[in-house]
Amino acid sequence: MRRTLLISGASRGIGRAIAMRLAAEGHRLSLGVRAPERLAGTALEGSPQVLLHPYEATDPSSAEAWVADTIERFGAIDGLIHCAGVFSRTGLLFSAAEAAEPQRLWNVNLMGPWWLTRAAWPWLARSGEGRIITLVSMSGKRVKGSLAAYPVSKFALMALCESMRQEGWESGIRVTAICPSWVNTEMAAAVTAIPPLAMTQPEDLAAQVSLLLALPASAVPFELAISCQREH
Ligand SMILES: NC(=O)c1ccc[n+]([C@@H]2O[C@H](COP(=O)([O-])OP(=O)(O)OC[C@H]3O[C@@H](n4cnc5c(N)ncnc54)[C@H](OP(=O)(O)O)[C@@H]3O)[C@@H](O)[C@H]2O)c1
Repeated sequence: MRRTLLISGASRGIGRAIAMRLAAEGHRLSLGVRAPERLAGTALEGSPQVLLHPYEATDPSSAEAWVADTIERFGAIDGLIHCAGVFSRTGLLFSAAEAAEPQRLWNVNLMGPWWLTRAAWPWLARSGEGRIITLVSMSGKRVKGSLAAYPVSKFALMALCESMRQEGWESGIRVTAICPSWVNTEMAAAVTAIPPLAMTQPEDLAAQVSLLLALPASAVPFELAISCQREH
């Protein structure tokens, strides 16, 4: 089934790899990006099957406008792929200089997907075959090291996924939380413990998303835990 899909965070990293794959597979895409020029010269620019739309995750009116313009262009929405997100090493005992960080992560990582899901929900329900795929993280399942702000936002995002699953089930909406450990993108560029090529590659997550979208409602997994290293 070819779908009309919103993808946030499509300017780079995992969201961009997913967009490239799904565009090549013939889906209609509406890409939410802060900087459309990042996609200049790619297959995602200038295609009649692809809408590039400004999207700022911390601004609820941005989600509303993106959904409205997608409906105007394509007339339907039957999938939502939440990739926009931010990482921070802000810990439990954050410094005064870091005091705004937990709230920033909360706003982007949790409230961004929440506002966007809320705006798109009537269309997903109308589809009867709606899909929501959310890039959560292993940090939505376990707390490792001395980070606090990031896993707190991602545990909350897992709870949002579970709520969406429960509330969308009868309307045919199926939800998947993808939970990778390190993925070879800019977000993991400062990681030295594991070489980039030993990390999960964004193109491999795009292949997982492609498979998820091809599965019938009776076979969609709620959670995909994908770790490139042994989890204790
Ligand atoms: N990389 C990893 O190791 C890893 C592991 C587990 C889970 N994840 C999760 O996977 C998702 C994608 O991560 P990634 O690795 O692709 O990261 P990335 O390469 O850093 O890309 C982050 C994306 O999020 C967008 N974004 C950030 N803040 C935004 C905002 N306020 N409004 C709108 N868009 C915003 C960025 O847009 P701009 O280009 O405009 O900045 C970019 O497209 C995130 O939710 C992340 O937490 C990543």
